[in-house]
Amino acid sequence: MVSLLKTTIDVSGDSKACRFVFISCLFSCLLFFISVYSSESLFAQENSECLECHTDPAEVDDKVRVDPVTGEVELVSMLVDKDAFHASAHGGEDFYCIDCHADLEESEGEHYPDLQPVDCITFCHDDPAETFLEGSHAGLMQEKGIELPTCKHCHAGERSKRDTPRADDLYHRMDTIGKCGGCHTEYYDSYRNNLHGQVTALGHVGTDIATCVDCHGQHTILNSSDPESTLGPENAKETCGKCHPGAGDSFIKHVAHPQYKNLGYYKSAMIALLNIRKDSGQVKSIIKSPQIILTILFVMYVGILVITFAQFGTHMLLSWLGTLLDERKGKESGHDK
Ligand code: HEC
Ligand code: HEC
Ligand code: HEC
Ligand code: HEC
Ligand code: HEC
Ligand code: HEC
Repeated sequence: MVSLLKTTIDVSGDSKACRFVFISCLFSCLLFFISVYSSESLFAQENSECLECHTDPAEVDDKVRVDPVTGEVELVSMLVDKDAFHASAHGGEDFYCIDCHADLEESEGEHYPDLQPVDCITFCHDDPAETFLEGSHAGLMQEKGIELPTCKHCHAGERSKRDTPRADDLYHRMDTIGKCGGCHTEYYDSYRNNLHGQVTALGHVGTDIATCVDCHGQHTILNSSDPESTLGPENAKETCGKCHPGAGDSFIKHVAHPQYKNLGYYKSAMIALLNIRKDSGQVKSIIKSPQIILTILFVMYVGILVITFAQFGTHMLLSWLGTLLDERKGKESGHDK
């Protein structure tokens, strides 16, 4: 090719005909490259090519798939819901199917069935992967021998894992409560006894009401006693302040996880009381916690209910016995006559 160009250049000085040959040669080279480039990538570059089959029920069906990471067996529809995909975090104009389904980059027409699962971490999301995978929360799970949840577990769309929801997606916000709550059942239950949890249980999960991650953080989750935590003494004012402007020291004492319906709380309080001679610190910390006020109020409330109904019951019982005695007396006196 280079030598061909050289010879054309050498002769081009001589005649107009040669200049014409030179230009047409360049032009055809250009056309050649365009056609090679587009024939190779036409299929792979255009989402519409993929969607031609993947929106047509005659072409694609459901498929039983085994998740290679979790071993979960699932029945998945191969139909792509275009609207759901475009509404997802990756549904913008600049996303191509083959960005994620990388092993289809070179394929043409019909493709082989068992594709590699999409790798969220290597090419795009090494940063969030680091905050989650190398954070202390993941470390604690590993210490307890719990398998780490995958990115797709927490970021799955409603109908397909493909449709990664945006942070303010209402389904995602509700789903996240369930995902955190699935491992933290006790804290899930107590969240549901708190105003925030009751409002979200009613189906209102907009970004104006607190779910687990609004208070605890997303990937970097630290214990609330850690000063660096979103709930540490200083940071809490900012965390709560996002929704409760002007939240101060006393406001953040609010009990986010009331324990008064948790039998475990009463048990540990009993044990602390029994051990008071050996270790009075435990009892002191229970008494100091704002939790105790709620618990006392709850116990008093239940106590008043129990006493009221007990009195009512005894009263009914006694008056019933009274009428029974009266009736018997009446009968006896009537018999005498
Ligand atoms: C000629 C029709 C056709 C075209 C074009 C097509 N697919 Fe498919 N695709 C299928 C069928 C059929 C299946 C189901 C294969 C099976 O049952 O194993 C499938 C399965 C898949 C799967 C799931 C594989 C698995 O193991 O879960 C993905 C992902 C996929 N296609 C992506 C794409 C992408 C991306 C494109 C465009 C580059 C594309 N397909 C183009 C027909 C097509
Ligand atoms: C942001 C990355 C991403 C993009 C872009 C993407 N997908 Fe996927 N896709 C996934 C993930 C993740 C899965 C779940 C299976 C897996 O983990 O490999 C998936 C699964 C699928 C499946 C199997 C069915 C299912 O619900 O699991 C099909 C079919 C599919 N994609 C087709 C497409 C087509 C067609 C496009 C382009 C319009 C596309 N994908 C664009 C990430 C993506
Ligand atoms: C325990 C659940 C959970 C796991 C596991 C998880 N995430 Fe997240 N992630 C969240 C939540 C909750 C948010 C905040 C809401 C949102 O943006 O969807 C978030 C936010 C994000 C964001 C957007 C905000 C940011 O930091 O840029 C990205 C990107 C992300 N995660 C990627 C990943 C990747 C990649 C993995 C796998 C290594 C992963 N996540 C694992 C729960 C999780
Ligand atoms: C796969 C199970 C799992 C999931 C999902 C999960 N966690 Fe955890 N989390 C743990 C384990 C295990 C610990 C260690 C302490 C324990 O056993 O409770 C922990 C600890 C914590 C702690 C205390 C951290 C510390 O340093 O003491 C908080 C707060 C927490 N998780 C909140 C969340 C939130 C919010 C979510 C949802 C984004 C979530 N968790 C999702 C298993 C999980
Ligand atoms: C309004 C903010 C708020 C919300 C919403 C919230 N928490 Fe908490 N969470 C707290 C505070 C404050 C503490 C520390 C005091 C306590 O234990 O009650 C805490 C404590 C915890 C702990 C014990 C470890 C630690 O850091 O002290 C876990 C685990 C936990 N929450 C999980 C969850 C889960 C799971 C959800 C969602 C179902 C949730 N939280 C929702 C504020 C919140
Ligand atoms: C994402 C927003 C959001 C965050 C973050 C949040 N809250 Fe709330 N909170 C609400 C909403 C919405 C209500 C419903 C009642 C209302 O309108 O005030 C509420 C109600 C309350 C109430 C009941 C009293 C009242 O004002 O009606 C208290 C107390 C409270 N939150 C404390 C906290 C504390 C403490 C934190 C931080 C640990 C916190 N909240 C974080 C949104 C939030």
